[in-house]
Formats: sequence, C-alpha cells, structure tokens
Amino acid sequence: MEGLVVNELLAPFSDPHAVARYADGPPRFVPGLADLHRMTTLLLAERASDDARVLVLGAGGGLELKAFAEAHPRWTFDGVDPAHEMLKLAERTLGPLASRARLHTGTIDDAPSGLFDAATCLLTLHFLPADERRRTVAGIRRRLKPGAPFVAAHASFPQGQGERAQWLQRYAAFAIAAGADPEQAHNARAAVAAHLHVLSPEQDEAVLRDAGFSDVSPFYTAFTWRGWVAYA
Ligand SMILES: C[S@@+](CC[C@H](N)C(=O)[O-])C[C@H]1O[C@@H](n2cnc3c(N)ncnc32)[C@H](O)[C@@H]1O
Repeated sequence: MEGLVVNELLAPFSDPHAVARYADGPPRFVPGLADLHRMTTLLLAERASDDARVLVLGAGGGLELKAFAEAHPRWTFDGVDPAHEMLKLAERTLGPLASRARLHTGTIDDAPSGLFDAATCLLTLHFLPADERRRTVAGIRRRLKPGAPFVAAHASFPQGQGERAQWLQRYAAFAIAAGADPEQAHNARAAVAAHLHVLSPEQDEAVLRDAGFSDVSPFYTAFTWRGWVAYA
C-alpha cells in the first residue's frame, strides 16, 4: 500500500454507504460505459487465449470483472484494489462468477507477479499522482507476458488554459443529462477539479510508453474520458 494517497475522492470507496450506491455512478458519469467494457473485452481477446489469466487493477465494484467473466467463461482473474469495501461489492456483483476471481486488497505491489496474459485498469489511474502512476503502470507491464495487451481508460483531457474548465463543465453536463442529481454532479466536478490527477491525452500516452508498453493506440474518446490499448 506504499505511496497510496488517500484524499477526498478516494474516501467514498471505503465508506459502506457510498459503496452501496457505487454502481449507479459510472454509467451516468462515463459515456458508453457498457460499450467501453465490450471494446475492452474484444481488445484483450485479440491476443489472450480462451483460458487467459487476466490482471484487473482497480477492480473494486466488479463491473468490468463481471463483463469480462460473462464474455469469456474460461478466463480467470486477479482483481486488486486498496478499498476492501469495493472488493466486497465486486464479490456481490460477480455472484457465482466470483469463483473465477481472486481478489487482493492493496495496490500493484500486492498483485501476484504473474505472468498474466492480459491486464486492465479502468477508471482508476487518474487517482494516482504522476510518480505513483508511472510506478503502477510499470508494475502492470512487469506482470505481463511479452506482447500481452493492456487496456487503460480514465479521465484524460486537454489541460490548457480555459480548456480544462470547459471540459469539466461538459463532464458535469453529461452526468446531469444522463440522470445524475445536479448537485451531486456539480460537487463531483468541483472535487475532480480540486483533487484528481488528470493528465492530457498526450501525457497519458507518454506514461504508457515510458513504462515500456509499445503500439499505444487510443480506442475510446468520450468527453473527458480516454481509453488506450498497448502491448507489453
Ligand atoms: C472509480 S473506481 C473504478 C472501479 C472499477 N474499475 C470500475 O470501473 O467500476 C476507482 C477504484 O480505484 C481504486 N484505487 C484507488 N487507488 C488505487 C491504486 N493505487 N491501485 C489500484 N486501485 C486503486 C479505488 O479504491 C476504487 O475502487
């Protein structure tokens, strides 16, 4: 758990009441979340075999674990997350599929050494300060077989003067249009502005390349969100 920064945005992941409502959030704040899961599954499956072992970092809540497990009945998973409450929710979300997932409370340092056939880190890396993010991404790559796919998707948008505020406005506007409580959406925008470690898409791609990933390709652009596939 070394280097873990607990701030206002991470606290809800350890609060049982907030965690109980977690699953309502991502579909409202992340445009096309179900399709993001679908595309991620397809990108992993391009290279991963039917019995692949998949590392899921930031696995709390279990939404992507469930999507992957349903699509590929023989894939098995190691899900890692520092928030124990979020992992308990993942177990509930998975139901009977949980028998194919080993869940580890912690950060990348607590993940098994692998080697894995594929890895993901969804809606998570923006919580990590730059150094911790670089260390985490390098730790994921070290746990992958050569050539194995890695999909990352998180908040990433232009950080220039004026641009950042406009994109944050759009982040809240999308959530409200998708049914989020307006006050909650505006609070989320303020918290993101104050605490989230958002990089520009160019900086995010550099983090992946610097960690040793090759063929870094963007596949998902949705307002303030970006997704990439890259190969170890
Ligand atoms: C917004 S949730 C995303 C959960 C899930 N991936 C999803 O898409 O629904 C962010 C998760 O990142 C986890 N997290 C925070 N810091 C982390 C770290 N250093 N390593 C791995 N996960 C972390 C939080 O505990 C939380 O469960």
